[in-house]
Amino acid sequence: MNEIYRQTWAEINLDNLAYNYNSIKNYLNNKIVIPIIKANAYGHGDIKVMERLYKEGVRICGVSLLEEALLLRNIFSDIVIIMLGPALEKDLKICSNNRIDITIYNEDIYELVLKCDFNLNCQFKIDSGMSRYGIKDINKAVKMVNLLMEKDNINLRGIYTHFATAEDNKEFYNKQIEVMQLVLSKLDKLPSMVHMSNSASILQFENDYDFTTHVRLGISLYGSLPVSFGINLKPVMRLCTKIVQIKKLNPGDCLGYGITYCPNKPVYVATLPIGYADGIWKAYKKGYVEINNKKYKIIATICMDVCFVKVDKSIKIGDVVTIFGGLIPVEVVGSTVKTNSYEIFTSVSYRVPRIYVEEK
Ligand SMILES: Cc1ncc(COP(=O)(O)O)c(C=O)c1O
Repeated sequence: MNEIYRQTWAEINLDNLAYNYNSIKNYLNNKIVIPIIKANAYGHGDIKVMERLYKEGVRICGVSLLEEALLLRNIFSDIVIIMLGPALEKDLKICSNNRIDITIYNEDIYELVLKCDFNLNCQFKIDSGMSRYGIKDINKAVKMVNLLMEKDNINLRGIYTHFATAEDNKEFYNKQIEVMQLVLSKLDKLPSMVHMSNSASILQFENDYDFTTHVRLGISLYGSLPVSFGINLKPVMRLCTKIVQIKKLNPGDCLGYGITYCPNKPVYVATLPIGYADGIWKAYKKGYVEINNKKYKIIATICMDVCFVKVDKSIKIGDVVTIFGGLIPVEVVGSTVKTNSYEIFTSVSYRVPRIYVEEK
């Protein structure tokens, strides 16, 4: 690993990752979990995450991009890698050579796949209502799947859909289920994998359905619950920094860009070497951080590399500050800046070193 000089890091607890994976796997009735490790495993580090999941027995994963798929294939020769994002014509041979499952997400790619004269693993995507990727016309989809299942060089091993509202709109969710079930009921033969649930659907509803074989687990693998649910998960990422300076400000002093903080009483201000270029959003100026098991308020404007916290006399230079993943859950940071934990995790930028901890 490159030398780390800075005082800001993201601690990634791989035991907690394994705990979350196993808790959800055990909660499901005999379905196979496909961990979703796109976007560098939601910011947690795709190779390290896959290495630990591999130790837990996982032999399958989902990513978005061909780059992500190839990176993993170079290290893990025997896992199924599903590319959930779009493959283009030029990518098909590469996917074939590297045994990457492409997604058939529209008619153009379907036609190209039909013309392939090499072996290719495929997953067929049904657009059951989200109108993102997938085939929407049910009869067309049925014909396409039936034809692909007949082709010797095409290994159509999965059919899937994706939910738009599993966390907050059951009516729309049910409509998507109906579409998926209708397609499946019309097929001559089912591919060996049928999957639809993301985290919110896995936790709330997956056990109600017996026609699926797999689930696609993303955000909850990393310890975040998109819906309040009676399963205990553990945070995997803890975003940390250390106090580099403490200054006393007196009435008349002002702090930071735009001098938005000008106290009318003496205050102690801790300077943290973490800013919006690391993933702490400017809008989080309304938020709190954790120091020595207590919450302290962020003050003034958040800079690219720096932010400030109002502290008391107990706080010292060098004290560890946790932005999220301890007393303050990532969901609270997300809601404070009007987004979700997905965006907070993936905002933790490349220049924050990931430090992996694991005891088992
Ligand atoms: C196609 C697909 N499946 C599964 C997932 C995982 O979803 P979640 O992180 O909500 O579990 C995603 C994430 O965006 C996705 O795009």
